[in-house]
Amino acid sequence: MADYPTTALGCLPALGWNSWNTFTWDINESLIKDVADLFVSDGYKDAGYEYIVIDDCWSLKERDENGRLVPDPAKFPNGMKAVADYIHGKGLKFGMYSCAGTHTCAGHPGSFEHEFEDAKQFAEWGVDYLKYDYCFKPRHVSGELLYKRMSLALKNCGRDILFSACNWGEDNVHDWIRESGAHSYRSTGDIQDNWESIKRLALSQMDKKAFTGSFCHNDMDMLVVGMHGGSNSDWIGSGLGGCTDTQYKTHFALWCIMGSPLMIGCDIRKATPFTKELLQNKNLLAINQDPESRGAYRIAVEPNWFGKDDAFVLVKALQNGDLAIGLFNFTDNTRELTLQFWDIGLPYQSGYSLSLYDCFTDTDLGMFRERFARHVPAHDCVVVRAKLTR
Ligand code: GLA
Repeated sequence: MADYPTTALGCLPALGWNSWNTFTWDINESLIKDVADLFVSDGYKDAGYEYIVIDDCWSLKERDENGRLVPDPAKFPNGMKAVADYIHGKGLKFGMYSCAGTHTCAGHPGSFEHEFEDAKQFAEWGVDYLKYDYCFKPRHVSGELLYKRMSLALKNCGRDILFSACNWGEDNVHDWIRESGAHSYRSTGDIQDNWESIKRLALSQMDKKAFTGSFCHNDMDMLVVGMHGGSNSDWIGSGLGGCTDTQYKTHFALWCIMGSPLMIGCDIRKATPFTKELLQNKNLLAINQDPESRGAYRIAVEPNWFGKDDAFVLVKALQNGDLAIGLFNFTDNTRELTLQFWDIGLPYQSGYSLSLYDCFTDTDLGMFRERFARHVPAHDCVVVRAKLTR
């Protein structure tokens, strides 16, 4: 165990649920309460998920006469404090959404030039997490400045609020976001519930590994695990047919090993046993929540005629000296993938072997000296936790 407090706000990637991927505009108090109930009764809370986040479309289209944001009374008849109280009553945390621009992406009021009063309002409602989007940003204003502004407002609003920046990787965000004070930052465009999108987002972040770490995590966007085409938005995927369970498994493994925040995006009221088990896989979650939050590096697999984007290994150094190792097969055929231990810093002459533990089947695979090879089905992956052993 780490001998420093990983419970500090934003130290580890956030774990939770967000309303957008499945429900977009169709949100309300009873849905959020159902999710909070299920977090407790279905094991998500025990697995480590804590934030329940309401995304866009929670407010009226106009501020009130005092310039305050107004929750839509048809969706949240008892206001946001009541929602926060309910979530807190379950021992969970409450997240909301606003935007650095004049309007949110769905056209509701944004926080531009209202940052300090909105931060105070969120604190009064009992908000613990703020996702902060990038639509309708006045062109003459620097986005960097606006994230610094909201960060300052949140850090001084009298409540611990995790600041989840969401500017889709624009404007070289990785160059300036950590210094703004944000705890995580979206570095990709929006995910869609299909395999092409998962591959595209993951590959786009391979060279960003140096820009993630404790207190400012690279957010690869919310999970589509278990959606199976169940969004009410055509764009996110109602028309795309969703993914196979194997593809969702690979998606989850990538987001875990690459250290992304994990915000569940499916309707957990309808989660299949496979979906639930995947989202609650304790071995994968432990890799994602490793106290040191190091980025994962990619190395090529043997045979070396695989393109680097077709089949590859991701390696993440863990705090206790173990390595998380994922073998990923993005091709459409089963492949035998081989990892040479030399390539991860373990020469044969060291005298060490790796004792490998399969994170999906929960089994010891035994000791390996020099290399590890597996037949990996199309779109699938193998993730092991490796311990150096003499
Ligand atoms: C943007 C964000 C999404 C979601 C929508 C809401 O597209 O990237 O995650 O918050 O806005 O309108």
